[in-house]
Amino acid sequence: MSTISTTDTTWFFACKTTDVPPNGGVCVKYKDEQIALFYFTRTDKWYASQNLCPHRRQMALSRGLTGTQQGEPKVACPFHKKTFSLEDGRCLNDEHECAITTYPVRLEDDRIYIGVSNTY
Ligand code: FES
Repeated sequence: MSTISTTDTTWFFACKTTDVPPNGGVCVKYKDEQIALFYFTRTDKWYASQNLCPHRRQMALSRGLTGTQQGEPKVACPFHKKTFSLEDGRCLNDEHECAITTYPVRLEDDRIYIGVSNTY
């Protein structure tokens, strides 16, 4: 596994840009964790979040429908359509639902790195 570490973040190599479908997501693994990685073509931006939907604990968010809500990138779980912000992880259509964890993403040429906290 290729990683770059700073004081508080480890950036691990997730995949290449060509591995991610436009306006869709893929699931990548870091240690025992599944992380969903998304690419939004219109804004040319990348987002990462936990793959686990907190609603019924399904590993599903990478297969969710992506979109925006008032300019905010979001993903809807394919099971019951709980929708989460990909900026801060909060649930956008149910104030009682748990937020999801989001991660920073950075590109180096065609290689995508996801940042995880060193206290992980
Ligand atoms: S399992 Fe994701 S919305 Fe229900």
